[in-house]
Amino acid sequence: MRKLIAGMKISIDGKFGNPEGIADWVDAWSEDYGLMPRIDACLLGGGMYPGYEQYWTALRNEPNTPAWVTGAAPTPAELEWARFSAQIPHYVLSSTLTSTLWPNTSFLRGLDDIAALKQQPGKDIYLVGGGRTTASLIDAGLVDELRLIAYPLIAGEGQALFATADHRRGLELRDVQQRQDGRVALTYAIA
Ligand SMILES: NC(=O)c1ccc[n+]([C@@H]2O[C@H](COP(=O)([O-])OP(=O)(O)OC[C@H]3O[C@@H](n4cnc5c(N)ncnc54)[C@H](OP(=O)(O)O)[C@@H]3O)[C@@H](O)[C@H]2O)c1
Repeated sequence: MRKLIAGMKISIDGKFGNPEGIADWVDAWSEDYGLMPRIDACLLGGGMYPGYEQYWTALRNEPNTPAWVTGAAPTPAELEWARFSAQIPHYVLSSTLTSTLWPNTSFLRGLDDIAALKQQPGKDIYLVGGGRTTASLIDAGLVDELRLIAYPLIAGEGQALFATADHRRGLELRDVQQRQDGRVALTYAIA
């Protein structure tokens, strides 16, 4: 069965974004979890999908223009993700959204659709976010691996990744890497 692998960039106090949901401490939205060789699909929540589509469409079409969230020119790793992500299907978990600008993007309407997607043949699936979707899919037992990049700051006011988690779940630490600027990359298998 394909694995569903969540990746999130969080603060040390477990926030995935400021009160508006934006992780304004993140300077690049590249896929920094080392997932590209093993995935061939992305899954996103309906909350983040419109911004994701806008961000990566802008990067693909105008790679020399500062990106709207970071305000900085795209990094080489962001350009790599812009190219890679254009070639793989995206699945958006939403009961309300009905249209996307991207080809090769379709909607999943509930948890059963995600379980069915994991049963289809293929490589692993990257759960890109956002916070509520990641927490609810972990809670539902659908996420196999959690990759976090912990940024060295206490974000204070903001949206907590596991604010809505109901179930206790053991995690098995599989890898730890110290990254530049005091970031730590953590890989956990979810029991
Ligand atoms: N720090 C990071 O690494 C990181 C990564 C990604 C995103 N983000 C941030 O996360 C924010 C978005 O997160 P969010 O929590 O607001 O929204 P989200 O998780 O992207 O999306 C929530 C929406 O997904 C749908 N959904 C979730 N669970 C569902 C279920 N069980 N069944 C059916 N639909 C379900 C619902 O859409 P409907 O209402 O349409 O049904 C729900 O409103 C963005 O601001 C983005 O910048 C941060």
